[in-house]
Amino acid sequence: MRLDKYLCEAGLGTRSQVKKLLKSGVVTVNGQTVLRPEEKLKETDRVAVSGRELSVARLEYWMLYKPAGCVSATEDARFQTVTELLPAEARRDLFPVGRLDRDTEGLLLLTNDGKLAHFLLSPKRHVDKVYYARVRGRVTKEHVKLFAEGLDIGDEKKTLPAVLEILQEEETARVLWERREEKDTGSAGEPEETGESQVRITIREGRFHQIKRMFEAVGCEVAYLRRLSMGSLTLDEGLTPGGCRRLTEQEVEALKEETGC
Ligand code: URA
Repeated sequence: MRLDKYLCEAGLGTRSQVKKLLKSGVVTVNGQTVLRPEEKLKETDRVAVSGRELSVARLEYWMLYKPAGCVSATEDARFQTVTELLPAEARRDLFPVGRLDRDTEGLLLLTNDGKLAHFLLSPKRHVDKVYYARVRGRVTKEHVKLFAEGLDIGDEKKTLPAVLEILQEEETARVLWERREEKDTGSAGEPEETGESQVRITIREGRFHQIKRMFEAVGCEVAYLRRLSMGSLTLDEGLTPGGCRRLTEQEVEALKEETGC
C-alpha cells in the first residue's frame, strides 16, 4: 500500500493533509524519514509519526445482504460493486470473501483480514455454505440422493456430498396448478411439473456457479438463489437487500475458532 493511503486510513487526515505532514518530515518508515507520499509499504514496515508508531491496520468485518445486480468485486467498469454498498465509515481496503453471482442475493462477508478470508475459502477446510433456492422443475427424493452422493458437474472431480432439503415442492406445484385450472376449466388430469420447488442446500465447496451447475446436472434450473449462512455466520434477518452491519466480536471469534485461524 502507498504511504499516503496508509496514513489516511490510519486517521491522519485527507490525502492533502497527509501530504503536508509528510513534507514536514515527521513521518518515518523503519526509523528513516520519508517525504514521498507514493512510497510503497511492505506488510512488515513500521510507520511512525513524530516518533509515535502507528498501530497496525485495523481489521474490520462487515456482513452485507448482497442484492441482485451488483458484483462481488472491489472494482468493476460496468456494474455496481459490493464495496460501493458499504457506508462511508467502513475502511477502503475491504474485499468480499468469495463470490456470489451477480444475480445471487444474500450473505457476503467483507473484510481486510486476509488470513481469515484464506481460511474460510480454503478447499481443505470445507466450511458449510447454506443457500435457499427456488428451482424450476420438480425436485424429488431421487435428487436428494444424487446430491448426497456428489454430482458430476463437468469438473475433474465430482462435487462433495451436499445436503438438499425440499422445503415446498408439492405445495407450490399444486397452487400453480389450481390457479391454472381456474383459468382453463376444460382441462383435466395430473398437475404438470410447472411449479418452482423451494429448497435449502448445504455445500462445502465454492466452485464456480456450483449450485446452478448441480441443478443443471439433474435437469433443473435455479430461478432464485440466496445465501443464508457461511459456517457459523448467518444472514441477519433484520437486514434487507443492500443493507449491512459490522460483525459482532462473538461472530468474528466463532469464525476464527471454527476455521482454526
Ligand atoms: N452457487 C451458484 O451457482 N451461484 C452462487 O452465487 C453461489 C453458489
